[in-house]
Amino acid sequence: MDQKIDFEAIDLTGPPPGQEPDRQYYFIARCRLWVREFLEKQGRLPRACVVNYGCQMNARDSEKLAGILKEIGYDLTESEEADFVIYNTCTVRDNANQKVYGRLGYLNGNKKKNPHMKIALCGCMMQEPSAVEKIKRSYGFVDLIFGTHNIFKLAELLDVCLRQDGMIIDLWEDTDQIVEALPVDRKYPFKSGVNIMFGCNNFCSYCIVPYVRGRERSRKPEDILKEIRSLVDQGVVEIMLLGQNVNSYGKNLPEPMTFAQLLTEVEGIRGLKRIRFMTSHPKDLSDQLIQVMQNSKKICRHLHLPLQSGSSRLLKLMNRHYDKEQYIALAQKIRKAIPDIAITTDIIVGFPGETEEDFKDTLDVVEKVQFENAFTFIYSKRTGTPAAAMADQVPPEVAHRRFDRLLSLVQETAKRRNALLVGTKQTVLAEEVNSHENGMLTGRMSNNALVHFNGPADLVGSLCAVRLTESKGFYYIGQYLQQEDEK
Ligand code: 5AD
Ligand code: SF4
Repeated sequence: MDQKIDFEAIDLTGPPPGQEPDRQYYFIARCRLWVREFLEKQGRLPRACVVNYGCQMNARDSEKLAGILKEIGYDLTESEEADFVIYNTCTVRDNANQKVYGRLGYLNGNKKKNPHMKIALCGCMMQEPSAVEKIKRSYGFVDLIFGTHNIFKLAELLDVCLRQDGMIIDLWEDTDQIVEALPVDRKYPFKSGVNIMFGCNNFCSYCIVPYVRGRERSRKPEDILKEIRSLVDQGVVEIMLLGQNVNSYGKNLPEPMTFAQLLTEVEGIRGLKRIRFMTSHPKDLSDQLIQVMQNSKKICRHLHLPLQSGSSRLLKLMNRHYDKEQYIALAQKIRKAIPDIAITTDIIVGFPGETEEDFKDTLDVVEKVQFENAFTFIYSKRTGTPAAAMADQVPPEVAHRRFDRLLSLVQETAKRRNALLVGTKQTVLAEEVNSHENGMLTGRMSNNALVHFNGPADLVGSLCAVRLTESKGFYYIGQYLQQEDEK
Protein backbone atom coordinates (compact mmCIF):
# COMPACT_ATOMS: atom_id res chain seq x y z
CA MET A 1 0.00 0.00 0.00
CA ASP A 2 1.63 3.24 -1.07
CA GLN A 3 -0.37 5.87 0.71
CA LYS A 4 -1.61 5.57 4.28
CA ILE A 5 -5.38 5.11 4.31
CA ASP A 6 -7.31 6.92 7.00
CA PHE A 7 -9.74 4.15 7.91
CA GLU A 8 -11.32 6.30 10.62
CA ALA A 9 -12.47 8.76 7.96
CA ILE A 10 -14.35 6.15 5.89
CA ASP A 11 -18.10 6.77 5.87
CA LEU A 12 -19.84 3.59 7.04
CA THR A 13 -23.38 4.96 6.96
CA GLY A 14 -23.87 4.20 3.26
CA PRO A 15 -23.62 0.88 1.39
CA PRO A 16 -20.16 -0.56 0.59
CA PRO A 17 -18.53 0.76 -2.60
CA GLY A 18 -18.62 -1.54 -5.65
CA GLN A 19 -15.04 -0.80 -6.69
CA GLU A 20 -11.87 -2.43 -5.32
CA PRO A 21 -9.84 -1.70 -3.29
CA ASP A 22 -12.28 0.88 -1.81
CA ARG A 23 -14.74 -1.87 -1.01
CA GLN A 24 -12.16 -3.69 1.10
CA TYR A 25 -11.12 -0.46 2.83
CA TYR A 26 -14.79 -0.05 3.82
CA PHE A 27 -14.88 -3.56 5.34
CA ILE A 28 -11.56 -3.04 7.10
CA ALA A 29 -13.13 0.07 8.68
CA ARG A 30 -16.20 -1.96 9.73
CA CYS A 31 -14.08 -4.71 11.25
CA ARG A 32 -12.17 -2.02 13.17
CA LEU A 33 -15.43 -1.13 14.92
CA TRP A 34 -15.80 -4.77 15.92
CA VAL A 35 -12.25 -4.74 17.29
CA ARG A 36 -13.06 -1.64 19.35
CA GLU A 37 -16.11 -3.39 20.84
CA PHE A 38 -14.01 -6.47 21.58
CA LEU A 39 -11.43 -4.33 23.36
CA GLU A 40 -14.10 -2.63 25.45
CA LYS A 41 -15.71 -5.94 26.48
CA GLN A 42 -12.62 -8.09 26.93
CA GLY A 43 -10.11 -5.52 28.03
CA ARG A 44 -7.63 -6.69 25.41
CA LEU A 45 -7.14 -6.67 21.65
CA PRO A 46 -8.18 -9.77 19.70
CA ARG A 47 -5.19 -11.83 18.52
CA ALA A 48 -4.75 -13.24 15.00
CA CYS A 49 -2.36 -15.84 13.65
CA VAL A 50 -1.59 -16.43 9.96
CA VAL A 51 0.00 -19.80 9.21
CA ASN A 52 1.58 -20.24 5.81
CA TYR A 53 1.99 -23.52 3.96
CA GLY A 54 3.80 -23.89 0.68
CA CYS A 55 5.66 -21.73 -1.77
CA GLN A 56 6.91 -18.14 -2.00
CA MET A 57 3.68 -17.08 -3.72
CA ASN A 58 1.71 -18.30 -0.72
CA ALA A 59 4.17 -16.63 1.63
CA ARG A 60 3.53 -13.33 -0.13
CA ASP A 61 -0.25 -13.90 0.03
CA SER A 62 0.13 -14.56 3.75
CA GLU A 63 1.86 -11.20 4.18
CA LYS A 64 -1.19 -9.62 2.54
CA LEU A 65 -3.56 -11.49 4.88
CA ALA A 66 -1.48 -10.35 7.86
CA GLY A 67 -1.47 -6.78 6.51
CA ILE A 68 -5.27 -6.70 6.35
CA LEU A 69 -5.61 -8.21 9.85
CA LYS A 70 -3.15 -5.69 11.25
CA GLU A 71 -5.08 -2.75 9.75
CA ILE A 72 -8.26 -4.20 11.23
CA GLY A 73 -6.54 -3.91 14.59
CA TYR A 74 -5.68 -7.50 15.47
CA ASP A 75 -2.64 -8.16 17.56
CA LEU A 76 -0.62 -10.50 15.29
CA THR A 77 0.91 -13.52 16.98
CA GLU A 78 2.63 -16.74 15.98
CA SER A 79 0.61 -18.70 18.52
CA GLU A 80 -2.32 -20.71 17.23
CA GLU A 81 -4.06 -20.07 20.54
CA ALA A 82 -5.38 -16.86 18.95
CA ASP A 83 -8.90 -15.50 18.43
CA PHE A 84 -8.58 -15.75 14.66
CA VAL A 85 -6.39 -18.40 13.05
CA ILE A 86 -6.08 -18.61 9.29
CA TYR A 87 -4.25 -21.34 7.38
CA ASN A 88 -3.09 -20.34 3.92
CA THR A 89 -2.96 -23.82 2.44
CA CYS A 90 -0.94 -25.57 -0.26
CA THR A 91 -1.96 -28.62 -2.29
CA VAL A 92 0.94 -29.22 -4.65
CA ARG A 93 1.58 -32.60 -3.04
CA ASP A 94 -0.75 -34.67 -0.91
CA ASN A 95 1.42 -34.37 2.21
CA ALA A 96 0.62 -30.63 2.26
CA ASN A 97 -3.08 -31.49 2.55
CA GLN A 98 -2.45 -34.13 5.20
CA LYS A 99 -0.59 -31.59 7.33
CA VAL A 100 -3.62 -29.30 7.33
CA TYR A 101 -6.04 -32.07 8.29
CA GLY A 102 -3.67 -33.06 11.09
CA ARG A 103 -3.41 -29.51 12.45
CA LEU A 104 -7.16 -28.91 12.33
CA GLY A 105 -7.78 -31.43 15.11
CA TYR A 106 -5.39 -29.51 17.37
CA LEU A 107 -7.04 -26.18 16.42
CA ASN A 108 -10.43 -27.54 17.38
CA GLY A 109 -9.02 -28.19 20.85
CA ASN A 110 -8.04 -24.51 21.07
CA LYS A 111 -11.45 -23.45 19.86
CA LYS A 112 -13.17 -25.42 22.61
CA LYS A 113 -11.17 -23.43 25.15
CA ASN A 114 -11.82 -20.01 23.55
CA PRO A 115 -15.45 -19.12 22.77
CA HIS A 116 -14.36 -16.14 20.59
CA MET A 117 -12.15 -18.20 18.34
CA LYS A 118 -12.75 -18.31 14.58
CA ILE A 119 -10.89 -20.61 12.19
CA ALA A 120 -10.38 -19.78 8.51
CA LEU A 121 -8.87 -21.74 5.64
CA CYS A 122 -7.83 -20.23 2.33
CA GLY A 123 -5.37 -20.81 -0.51
CA CYS A 124 -4.72 -23.58 -3.01
CA MET A 125 -6.18 -26.57 -1.18
CA MET A 126 -9.53 -24.77 -0.89
CA GLN A 127 -9.77 -24.60 -4.69
CA GLU A 128 -10.12 -28.38 -4.69
CA PRO A 129 -13.79 -29.38 -4.35
CA SER A 130 -12.92 -32.75 -2.77
CA ALA A 131 -10.93 -31.06 0.03
CA VAL A 132 -13.77 -28.63 0.76
CA GLU A 133 -16.27 -31.51 0.84
CA LYS A 134 -14.10 -33.31 3.37
CA ILE A 135 -13.86 -30.21 5.56
CA LYS A 136 -17.62 -29.71 5.45
CA ARG A 137 -18.12 -33.35 6.36
CA SER A 138 -15.50 -33.86 9.04
CA TYR A 139 -14.33 -30.44 10.24
CA GLY A 140 -17.61 -28.59 10.75
CA PHE A 141 -15.98 -26.25 13.31
CA VAL A 142 -14.18 -24.32 10.53
CA ASP A 143 -15.78 -20.87 10.25
CA LEU A 144 -14.56 -19.50 6.94
CA ILE A 145 -13.32 -20.95 3.66
CA PHE A 146 -12.14 -18.98 0.65
CA GLY A 147 -9.69 -19.59 -2.17
CA THR A 148 -6.81 -18.18 -4.16
CA HIS A 149 -8.83 -15.90 -6.46
CA ASN A 150 -10.58 -13.90 -3.75
CA ILE A 151 -7.85 -13.70 -1.14
CA PHE A 152 -8.15 -9.90 -1.32
CA LYS A 153 -11.67 -10.25 0.18
CA LEU A 154 -10.51 -11.25 3.66
CA ALA A 155 -11.90 -8.12 5.36
CA GLU A 156 -15.30 -8.46 3.68
CA LEU A 157 -15.59 -12.14 4.58
CA LEU A 158 -14.32 -11.59 8.11
CA ASP A 159 -16.93 -8.88 8.61
CA VAL A 160 -19.66 -11.47 7.99
CA CYS A 161 -17.88 -14.20 9.93
CA LEU A 162 -17.49 -12.08 13.07
CA ARG A 163 -21.16 -11.28 13.19
CA GLN A 164 -22.69 -14.71 12.56
CA ASP A 165 -22.14 -18.39 13.33
CA GLY A 166 -21.87 -21.25 10.85
CA MET A 167 -19.42 -22.03 8.07
CA ILE A 168 -19.03 -19.33 5.41
CA ILE A 169 -17.74 -20.52 2.06
CA ASP A 170 -16.79 -18.21 -0.79
CA LEU A 171 -14.96 -19.91 -3.65
CA TRP A 172 -14.37 -18.60 -7.17
CA GLU A 173 -13.47 -20.81 -10.08
CA ASP A 174 -11.21 -18.28 -11.76
CA THR A 175 -10.71 -14.55 -12.09
CA ASP A 176 -9.08 -11.99 -14.29
CA GLN A 177 -9.14 -9.45 -11.48
CA ILE A 178 -5.95 -8.20 -9.82
CA VAL A 179 -6.66 -6.02 -6.79
CA GLU A 180 -3.89 -3.52 -6.10
CA ALA A 181 -3.11 -1.35 -3.08
CA LEU A 182 -4.12 -3.58 -0.19
CA PRO A 183 -2.15 -3.54 3.07
CA VAL A 184 0.84 -5.87 3.47
CA ASP A 185 2.66 -6.85 6.65
CA ARG A 186 6.15 -7.83 5.50
CA LYS A 187 8.13 -10.47 7.33
CA TYR A 188 11.48 -8.79 6.62
CA PRO A 189 11.99 -5.00 6.51
CA PHE A 190 14.87 -5.24 4.01
CA LYS A 191 13.62 -7.77 1.46
CA SER A 192 10.29 -8.49 -0.14
CA GLY A 193 8.52 -10.64 -2.68
CA VAL A 194 6.71 -8.80 -5.47
CA ASN A 195 4.07 -10.60 -7.52
CA ILE A 196 4.48 -9.98 -11.21
CA MET A 197 1.97 -12.53 -12.42
CA PHE A 198 -0.58 -14.95 -11.12
CA GLY A 199 -1.69 -18.38 -12.29
CA CYS A 200 -0.16 -20.78 -14.77
CA ASN A 201 -1.06 -21.90 -18.29
CA ASN A 202 1.40 -24.73 -18.67
CA PHE A 203 -0.57 -27.71 -17.47
CA CYS A 204 2.38 -29.94 -16.71
CA SER A 205 0.55 -33.25 -16.50
CA TYR A 206 1.39 -33.95 -12.82
CA CYS A 207 0.65 -30.46 -11.52
CA ILE A 208 -2.45 -29.14 -9.84
CA VAL A 209 -1.34 -25.49 -9.81
CA PRO A 210 -3.09 -24.42 -13.06
CA TYR A 211 -6.36 -25.79 -11.65
CA VAL A 212 -6.11 -24.08 -8.29
CA ARG A 213 -4.41 -20.82 -9.27
CA GLY A 214 -6.19 -20.27 -12.57
CA ARG A 215 -5.06 -18.79 -15.86
CA GLU A 216 -1.93 -16.76 -16.24
CA ARG A 217 -2.33 -13.01 -15.81
CA SER A 218 0.41 -10.42 -15.57
CA ARG A 219 0.37 -7.30 -13.45
CA LYS A 220 0.88 -4.06 -15.33
CA PRO A 221 4.55 -3.01 -15.35
CA GLU A 222 3.68 0.42 -13.96
CA ASP A 223 1.99 -1.18 -10.92
CA ILE A 224 4.99 -3.44 -10.35
CA LEU A 225 7.51 -0.60 -10.64
CA LYS A 226 5.43 1.63 -8.37
CA GLU A 227 5.30 -1.10 -5.73
CA ILE A 228 9.06 -1.68 -5.90
CA ARG A 229 9.84 2.05 -5.68
CA SER A 230 7.63 2.29 -2.64
CA LEU A 231 9.32 -0.76 -1.05
CA VAL A 232 12.74 0.79 -1.66
CA ASP A 233 11.54 4.01 -0.02
CA GLN A 234 10.61 1.88 2.99
CA GLY A 235 14.12 0.41 3.20
CA VAL A 236 13.90 -2.71 1.04
CA VAL A 237 17.18 -3.55 -0.72
CA GLU A 238 16.32 -6.92 -2.25
CA ILE A 239 13.21 -7.97 -4.11
CA MET A 240 12.09 -11.31 -5.47
CA LEU A 241 9.84 -11.11 -8.53
CA LEU A 242 7.28 -13.87 -8.16
CA GLY A 243 5.33 -15.91 -10.69
CA GLN A 244 4.77 -19.59 -11.53
CA ASN A 245 6.54 -18.99 -14.82
CA VAL A 246 8.14 -15.55 -14.89
CA ASN A 247 9.60 -16.16 -18.34
CA SER A 248 6.19 -15.82 -19.89
CA TYR A 249 5.53 -12.49 -18.14
CA GLY A 250 3.74 -9.85 -20.13
CA LYS A 251 2.53 -11.93 -23.06
CA ASN A 252 -1.11 -11.09 -22.45
CA LEU A 253 -0.76 -7.47 -21.42
CA PRO A 254 -2.59 -4.89 -23.55
CA GLU A 255 0.91 -3.69 -24.48
CA PRO A 256 2.94 -6.91 -24.41
CA MET A 257 6.41 -6.83 -22.90
CA THR A 258 8.97 -9.51 -22.09
CA PHE A 259 10.31 -10.50 -18.70
CA ALA A 260 13.76 -9.35 -19.79
CA GLN A 261 12.32 -5.89 -20.56
CA LEU A 262 10.64 -5.78 -17.16
CA LEU A 263 13.94 -6.69 -15.48
CA THR A 264 15.70 -3.88 -17.30
CA GLU A 265 13.16 -1.41 -15.96
CA VAL A 266 13.43 -2.78 -12.43
CA GLU A 267 17.23 -2.52 -12.64
CA GLY A 268 16.82 1.23 -13.14
CA ILE A 269 15.22 1.77 -9.73
CA ARG A 270 17.59 3.82 -7.60
CA GLY A 271 18.37 2.42 -4.17
CA LEU A 272 17.40 -1.15 -5.08
CA LYS A 273 20.44 -3.40 -4.60
CA ARG A 274 19.39 -6.92 -5.51
CA ILE A 275 16.84 -8.50 -7.82
CA ARG A 276 15.79 -12.13 -7.66
CA PHE A 277 13.06 -13.99 -9.49
CA MET A 278 11.26 -17.31 -9.28
CA THR A 279 10.35 -19.57 -11.15
CA SER A 280 11.74 -19.94 -14.67
CA HIS A 281 10.36 -22.54 -17.02
CA PRO A 282 13.20 -23.85 -19.22
CA LYS A 283 11.01 -23.79 -22.33
CA ASP A 284 10.56 -20.01 -22.14
CA LEU A 285 14.03 -18.91 -21.05
CA SER A 286 15.22 -16.47 -23.70
CA ASP A 287 18.69 -15.42 -24.85
CA GLN A 288 17.53 -11.88 -24.14
CA LEU A 289 17.09 -12.83 -20.47
CA ILE A 290 20.57 -14.37 -20.29
CA GLN A 291 22.00 -11.22 -21.80
CA VAL A 292 20.14 -8.94 -19.40
CA MET A 293 21.39 -11.03 -16.47
CA GLN A 294 24.91 -10.99 -17.81
CA ASN A 295 24.97 -7.20 -18.03
CA SER A 296 23.18 -6.56 -14.77
CA LYS A 297 24.76 -5.32 -11.57
CA LYS A 298 21.67 -6.05 -9.52
CA ILE A 299 20.20 -9.33 -10.76
CA CYS A 300 21.43 -12.08 -8.48
CA ARG A 301 23.59 -14.88 -9.83
CA HIS A 302 20.94 -17.53 -9.40
CA LEU A 303 18.52 -19.33 -11.66
CA HIS A 304 15.96 -21.77 -10.36
CA LEU A 305 15.30 -23.91 -13.39
CA PRO A 306 13.05 -26.88 -12.66
CA LEU A 307 14.17 -29.99 -14.51
CA GLN A 308 11.44 -32.35 -13.20
CA SER A 309 12.94 -35.33 -15.03
CA GLY A 310 16.01 -36.08 -17.13
CA SER A 311 14.17 -38.53 -19.35
CA SER A 312 13.03 -37.09 -22.68
CA ARG A 313 10.28 -39.69 -22.80
CA LEU A 314 8.92 -38.64 -19.40
CA LEU A 315 9.38 -34.94 -20.13
CA LYS A 316 7.05 -35.41 -23.06
CA LEU A 317 4.49 -37.19 -20.90
CA MET A 318 4.90 -34.42 -18.35
CA ASN A 319 4.08 -31.85 -21.08
CA ARG A 320 7.27 -29.89 -20.38
CA HIS A 321 8.13 -28.93 -23.99
CA TYR A 322 11.88 -29.62 -23.76
CA ASP A 323 13.99 -32.75 -23.81
CA LYS A 324 17.05 -33.92 -21.92
CA GLU A 325 19.55 -32.58 -24.46
CA GLN A 326 17.84 -29.19 -24.70
CA TYR A 327 17.89 -28.80 -20.91
CA ILE A 328 21.58 -29.69 -20.65
CA ALA A 329 22.42 -27.35 -23.56
CA LEU A 330 20.48 -24.54 -21.91
CA ALA A 331 22.23 -25.04 -18.56
CA GLN A 332 25.62 -25.08 -20.29
CA LYS A 333 24.79 -21.94 -22.24
CA ILE A 334 23.82 -20.16 -19.02
CA ARG A 335 26.94 -21.32 -17.17
CA LYS A 336 29.13 -20.17 -20.05
CA ALA A 337 27.50 -16.73 -20.26
CA ILE A 338 27.43 -16.20 -16.48
CA PRO A 339 30.18 -18.33 -14.90
CA ASP A 340 29.41 -17.37 -11.31
CA ILE A 341 25.74 -18.34 -11.56
CA ALA A 342 24.16 -21.03 -9.39
CA ILE A 343 21.58 -23.23 -11.05
CA THR A 344 19.10 -24.90 -8.74
CA THR A 345 16.24 -27.16 -9.69
CA ASP A 346 13.17 -29.22 -8.81
CA ILE A 347 13.10 -32.93 -9.63
CA ILE A 348 10.26 -35.43 -9.34
CA VAL A 349 10.90 -39.17 -9.01
CA GLY A 350 8.32 -41.87 -9.50
CA PHE A 351 6.28 -40.17 -12.22
CA PRO A 352 3.89 -42.78 -13.73
CA GLY A 353 5.73 -45.22 -15.97
CA GLU A 354 9.20 -44.12 -14.81
CA THR A 355 11.62 -46.97 -15.55
CA GLU A 356 15.11 -47.51 -14.18
CA GLU A 357 16.38 -46.19 -17.51
CA ASP A 358 14.30 -42.99 -17.24
CA PHE A 359 15.58 -42.51 -13.72
CA LYS A 360 19.18 -42.98 -14.86
CA ASP A 361 18.64 -40.14 -17.33
CA THR A 362 17.69 -37.93 -14.38
CA LEU A 363 20.87 -38.95 -12.54
CA ASP A 364 22.84 -38.24 -15.71
CA VAL A 365 21.51 -34.66 -15.95
CA VAL A 366 22.38 -34.09 -12.28
CA GLU A 367 25.94 -35.30 -13.01
CA LYS A 368 26.25 -33.10 -16.09
CA VAL A 369 24.69 -29.88 -14.81
CA GLN A 370 26.07 -30.10 -11.23
CA PHE A 371 23.22 -28.20 -9.61
CA GLU A 372 24.24 -26.07 -6.64
CA ASN A 373 21.04 -27.26 -4.98
CA ALA A 374 18.00 -29.33 -5.90
CA PHE A 375 14.60 -29.84 -4.36
CA THR A 376 13.65 -33.46 -4.85
CA PHE A 377 10.11 -34.78 -4.61
CA ILE A 378 8.37 -38.10 -4.79
CA TYR A 379 5.58 -37.91 -7.33
CA SER A 380 2.25 -37.31 -5.65
CA LYS A 381 -0.94 -38.18 -7.47
CA ARG A 382 -3.20 -35.14 -7.77
CA THR A 383 -6.82 -35.89 -8.63
CA GLY A 384 -7.95 -34.18 -11.82
CA THR A 385 -4.48 -33.96 -13.40
CA PRO A 386 -3.77 -36.06 -16.53
CA ALA A 387 -0.95 -37.97 -14.79
CA ALA A 388 -3.32 -39.24 -12.10
CA ALA A 389 -5.10 -41.28 -14.75
CA MET A 390 -1.92 -42.68 -16.31
CA ALA A 391 -1.18 -46.39 -16.17
CA ASP A 392 1.91 -47.79 -14.41
CA GLN A 393 1.90 -45.74 -11.24
CA VAL A 394 5.29 -46.49 -9.68
CA PRO A 395 5.13 -48.55 -6.45
CA PRO A 396 5.98 -46.38 -3.41
CA GLU A 397 8.95 -48.53 -2.34
CA VAL A 398 10.55 -48.16 -5.80
CA ALA A 399 9.96 -44.38 -5.75
CA HIS A 400 11.46 -44.13 -2.25
CA ARG A 401 14.59 -46.05 -3.23
CA ARG A 402 15.07 -43.83 -6.27
CA PHE A 403 14.48 -40.75 -4.16
CA ASP A 404 17.28 -41.79 -1.77
CA ARG A 405 19.66 -42.47 -4.64
CA LEU A 406 18.86 -39.13 -6.26
CA LEU A 407 19.28 -37.27 -3.01
CA SER A 408 22.71 -38.73 -2.34
CA LEU A 409 23.87 -37.87 -5.87
CA VAL A 410 22.53 -34.32 -5.53
CA GLN A 411 24.34 -33.98 -2.21
CA GLU A 412 27.58 -35.30 -3.64
CA THR A 413 27.56 -33.16 -6.82
CA ALA A 414 26.42 -30.02 -4.99
CA LYS A 415 29.10 -30.51 -2.36
CA ARG A 416 31.78 -30.83 -5.02
CA ARG A 417 30.56 -27.77 -6.88
CA ASN A 418 29.94 -25.58 -3.83
CA ALA A 419 33.42 -26.36 -2.45
CA LEU A 420 34.89 -24.44 -5.40
CA LEU A 421 33.94 -21.12 -3.78
CA VAL A 422 35.75 -21.72 -0.47
CA GLY A 423 38.34 -19.00 0.04
CA THR A 424 36.55 -16.42 -2.13
CA LYS A 425 35.16 -13.10 -0.93
CA GLN A 426 31.40 -12.77 -1.39
CA THR A 427 28.74 -10.16 -0.77
CA VAL A 428 26.19 -11.49 1.68
CA LEU A 429 22.90 -9.88 2.68
CA ALA A 430 22.69 -10.50 6.42
CA GLU A 431 19.14 -11.74 7.01
CA GLU A 432 18.90 -12.88 10.61
CA VAL A 433 20.67 -13.55 13.84
CA ASN A 434 21.57 -17.23 13.95
CA SER A 435 19.40 -18.72 16.68
CA HIS A 436 21.71 -21.70 17.26
CA GLU A 437 25.00 -19.96 17.74
CA ASN A 438 25.79 -16.80 19.66
CA GLY A 439 27.40 -13.98 17.71
CA MET A 440 26.61 -15.57 14.34
CA LEU A 441 24.46 -14.19 11.54
CA THR A 442 22.86 -15.94 8.59
CA GLY A 443 22.64 -14.40 5.17
CA ARG A 444 22.50 -15.12 1.48
CA MET A 445 25.05 -14.71 -1.25
CA SER A 446 24.06 -13.39 -4.65
CA ASN A 447 23.91 -17.02 -5.83
CA ASN A 448 21.33 -17.73 -3.08
CA ALA A 449 23.57 -19.97 -0.97
CA LEU A 450 23.25 -19.52 2.78
CA VAL A 451 26.26 -18.35 4.78
CA HIS A 452 26.66 -18.40 8.56
CA PHE A 453 29.19 -15.80 9.63
CA ASN A 454 30.30 -13.90 12.70
CA GLY A 455 28.92 -10.43 13.20
CA PRO A 456 26.81 -8.19 15.42
CA ALA A 457 23.00 -8.20 15.21
CA ASP A 458 22.86 -4.66 13.85
CA LEU A 459 24.30 -5.86 10.54
CA VAL A 460 20.96 -7.56 9.75
CA GLY A 461 19.61 -5.95 6.57
CA SER A 462 23.08 -4.93 5.36
CA LEU A 463 25.23 -6.18 2.52
CA CYS A 464 28.44 -7.51 4.01
CA ALA A 465 31.73 -8.65 2.53
CA VAL A 466 32.40 -12.16 3.82
CA ARG A 467 35.26 -14.58 3.19
CA LEU A 468 33.97 -18.15 2.76
CA THR A 469 36.04 -20.37 5.03
CA GLU A 470 34.23 -23.70 4.79
CA SER A 471 31.59 -25.40 2.65
CA LYS A 472 29.06 -27.58 4.45
CA GLY A 473 27.50 -28.96 1.28
CA PHE A 474 24.53 -26.68 0.68
CA TYR A 475 25.69 -23.81 2.91
CA TYR A 476 28.90 -22.09 4.00
CA ILE A 477 30.70 -20.81 7.06
CA GLY A 478 32.26 -17.40 6.55
CA GLN A 479 34.41 -14.75 8.14
CA TYR A 480 32.99 -11.23 8.25
CA LEU A 481 35.24 -8.66 6.56
CA GLN A 482 33.34 -5.40 6.33
CA GLN A 483 30.00 -3.75 5.64
CA GLU A 484 29.53 -2.95 1.97
CA ASP A 485 26.68 -0.48 2.15
CA GLU A 486 25.92 2.31 4.52
CA LYS A 487 22.56 1.80 6.26
N1 5AD B 1 4.15 -34.50 -7.24
C1 5AD B 1 5.41 -34.21 -6.83
N2 5AD B 1 5.98 -33.02 -7.02
C2 5AD B 1 5.26 -32.07 -7.67
N3 5AD B 1 5.57 -30.80 -8.01
C3 5AD B 1 4.50 -30.26 -8.62
N4 5AD B 1 3.51 -31.16 -8.69
C4 5AD B 1 3.96 -32.30 -8.10
C5 5AD B 1 3.40 -33.57 -7.89
N5 5AD B 1 2.17 -33.88 -8.28
C6 5AD B 1 6.86 -30.20 -7.75
C7 5AD B 1 7.52 -29.75 -9.05
C8 5AD B 1 7.44 -28.26 -8.98
C9 5AD B 1 7.52 -28.03 -7.49
C10 5AD B 1 7.05 -26.70 -7.03
O1 5AD B 1 6.70 -29.04 -6.95
O2 5AD B 1 8.86 -30.20 -9.02
O3 5AD B 1 8.48 -27.63 -9.67
FE1 SF4 C 1 2.91 -26.58 -12.22
FE2 SF4 C 1 4.22 -26.70 -14.55
FE3 SF4 C 1 2.81 -24.47 -13.92
FE4 SF4 C 1 5.08 -25.04 -12.57
S1 SF4 C 1 4.91 -24.57 -14.79
S2 SF4 C 1 3.10 -24.41 -11.69
S3 SF4 C 1 5.05 -27.29 -12.52
S4 SF4 C 1 1.98 -26.52 -14.29
